[in-house]
Amino acid sequence: NRNDTTARIAHVFRGTFVHSTSGAAVEILQNCVLGVDDQGKIAFIENDRDEESLSKLWGFGASDIKQLGQHEFLMPGMVDTHIHASQYSYTGTALDLPLLEWLNTYTFPVEAKYKDLEFANNVYTKVVRRTLKNGTTTACYFATIHTDASLLLGELADKFGQRALVGKVCMDCNSAVPQYKESSILEDCYPKVKPVVTPRFAPSCSSSLLSELGEIANNNKLHIQSHISENKGEVELVKTLFPGCKSYTDVYLKHKLLTDRTVMAHGCHLTDEELEIFHETGSAISHCPNSNISICSGMLNVRNVLNHKVKLGLGTDVAAGYSPSMLDAMRRTLDTSKALTIQDPQHKTLSFEEVFRLATLGGSEALSLDDQIGNFVVGKDFDALRVNVCVPEGPIDLFPGEGDDRNITEVYVAGRQVVPFPDT
Ligand code: GUN
Ligand code: FE
Repeated sequence: NRNDTTARIAHVFRGTFVHSTSGAAVEILQNCVLGVDDQGKIAFIENDRDEESLSKLWGFGASDIKQLGQHEFLMPGMVDTHIHASQYSYTGTALDLPLLEWLNTYTFPVEAKYKDLEFANNVYTKVVRRTLKNGTTTACYFATIHTDASLLLGELADKFGQRALVGKVCMDCNSAVPQYKESSILEDCYPKVKPVVTPRFAPSCSSSLLSELGEIANNNKLHIQSHISENKGEVELVKTLFPGCKSYTDVYLKHKLLTDRTVMAHGCHLTDEELEIFHETGSAISHCPNSNISICSGMLNVRNVLNHKVKLGLGTDVAAGYSPSMLDAMRRTLDTSKALTIQDPQHKTLSFEEVFRLATLGGSEALSLDDQIGNFVVGKDFDALRVNVCVPEGPIDLFPGEGDDRNITEVYVAGRQVVPFPDT
């Protein structure tokens, strides 16, 4: 039933829709019509036998309908729950050191360059456009400590139409680059771009900084992101830096940084006891399989995390992860799961359907945005990808299953078409 008489229909699609629900990892809806209103929300999704009554009710004509071809479908946009926009400039390089050395040798020196807004503008424009083209409709970004450059990243996400959480990185100790510290956060700025309180990770934050950030996040109901238990050396370091805390998780818990709006990257070495705390607090984990393998951090047992009913999404973790594509994150998620099965045949390997859910609905849950996005439900924002498995010169004609961004022909965020880019 239509209850809002002022809403107008902006798009109608007819064809096949693929998405996840709580009950089905993949649900394929064939011969359906989906309407998007002028607020960018899904107005209806029905079998096309009801098209005539829908067209009367909503006031659209046959010529308004976009018919999906035989080799096409719509799917929800993908949610990258962890990506360092500032590290995009060295993606695919510098993967020969473990985490703590990698940070000091490559990452901190590069991130220091973002005091230069021209440098920031160049890289941030590229990362927003590249990830949108790859189907990332929502990105949870780490920027750097620089307020102006972080604001610019938010502005660029808004300009190109990407939904984003933008974190100005906070850190005040243990960096080999001494000037690299500060501790303020971004103001709320755009309808679809929000700030996220971002302590880099426990080893680079004093206890007083962590407390201050926990307070700011709780008082303002803000999202929180950080890293946890990525690498064994890091876990040992945290034990020595915070001797009063029972575990790495306890460090964040004690500083009130574990909330139902928290997403923590990696978590490879969390114990079951720590996962229980994640479940109780409603905090989420961002699984970053490319990064975990690329800098030899560890292999997260996603099955075990899901069994603990902890919210989980996927992240590219550029540039410790060498690909900005969520399709890559999905493939690497399967690889890690299969490697765990090789080690232990009792391990129940993830299915590709489950991984599809993690990249879409799971990501929306991990970022506490599942009331707004994640699947095709009336009232949610229309964040979607138009996929054509048979584009000319595309990859799938050669190798079935080898899809990439060439197969993503259109991208929508809140009903606005953002790919192809208006200037191309
Ligand atoms: N831990 C703290 N900072 C970082 C970072 O920039 N990348 C990764 N992968 N882990 C971190
Ligand atoms: Fe990271």
